[in-house]
Amino acid sequence: METTDLTLRPARPADRDRIVEITGDVWGGRDYIPKVFDRWVSDAGAAFQAAEIEGVVVGLQRLRPYAPGLIWYEGLRVASEHRRQGVARAMLAAAIEEAREQGFREMRLATRDRPAVSLFESAGFERLVEMKWWRGPRVEGGEPARMPDAAEARKLWKAVESSPGIQLYAGVVPDMNGARDLNADELERLAGIGLLRLGPGGRALALLREPWGQNIAVSLLAGGGGALRELLTALRFEADADGLNHVTVNLPPGHPAEEDLRATGYDFADAENSAFVYALKL
Ligand SMILES: CC(C)(COP(=O)(O)OP(=O)(O)OC[C@H]1O[C@@H](n2cnc3c(N)ncnc32)[C@H](O)[C@@H]1OP(=O)(O)O)[C@@H](O)C(=O)NCCC(=O)NCCS
Repeated sequence: METTDLTLRPARPADRDRIVEITGDVWGGRDYIPKVFDRWVSDAGAAFQAAEIEGVVVGLQRLRPYAPGLIWYEGLRVASEHRRQGVARAMLAAAIEEAREQGFREMRLATRDRPAVSLFESAGFERLVEMKWWRGPRVEGGEPARMPDAAEARKLWKAVESSPGIQLYAGVVPDMNGARDLNADELERLAGIGLLRLGPGGRALALLREPWGQNIAVSLLAGGGGALRELLTALRFEADADGLNHVTVNLPPGHPAEEDLRATGYDFADAENSAFVYALKL
């Protein structure tokens, strides 16, 4: 097939049924796209695009500016009957071109799918962070962790910067909804929206992200020892206090916090697959 027939246009509310159909066989029918479709299609702050061949929608993707100079790439899907014909490669190339023209400095994305990994690597994306998913169930009876305010959060940066294993994060917060640069500004921003948690004496830190389910989601851990273990346990208490099922933690394999997670009742939720954050300089 010729991908020259491919046209990209904004996705429309009327595309809903076709897009639900396209995503029906993705991840055993548990694709999140049907859930976010209405929000995405009405979000003027991002480009949610449908790819068409001869008037039929065959693919989708979304480009979302999320921090100065940074654009997030997500929602790439190609209809099963049109796969392995260069559709995704052509869509991605158009997205990169568009982001470049708009002056973004870097395009980033997160994925855990093998075909997507080889597509992004062959398009020149660099792998920044590898992550394994850990899970700790809710537990009753204790105090949730402390939430620092923005001014206090800034002061924690020095400790975060020198925290064991921090280099495995390659200078980014591996938030699966948009990986920002890891620095004092980011700590302040997260504290301001209630997404920072502190262990005793500020000797351990958890950076949270918006969860996808009924859970607390941690995208980065810093600190160690008893303080980190207390913090990890306090997160399980917080899940219980908030009526949530569990805490998920994304952690690079080989990170020293693995031991602390094991010691505080977390186990591998998905030992087989890693998720990755990729970046392309534009
Ligand atoms: C991943 C997906 C978008 C690829 O779409 P596609 O149009 O078939 O991809 P293309 O034909 O453009 O292939 C581009 C490259 O992707 C990789 N690729 C695609 N399908 C692959 C597969 N089944 N196995 C291994 N690599 C694959 C290859 O590197 C391929 O390059 P090549 O053909 O030169 O080897 C499509 O398979 C899909 O929608 N999958 C389900 C959802 C998903 O995983 N989305 C990605 C989430 S980030």
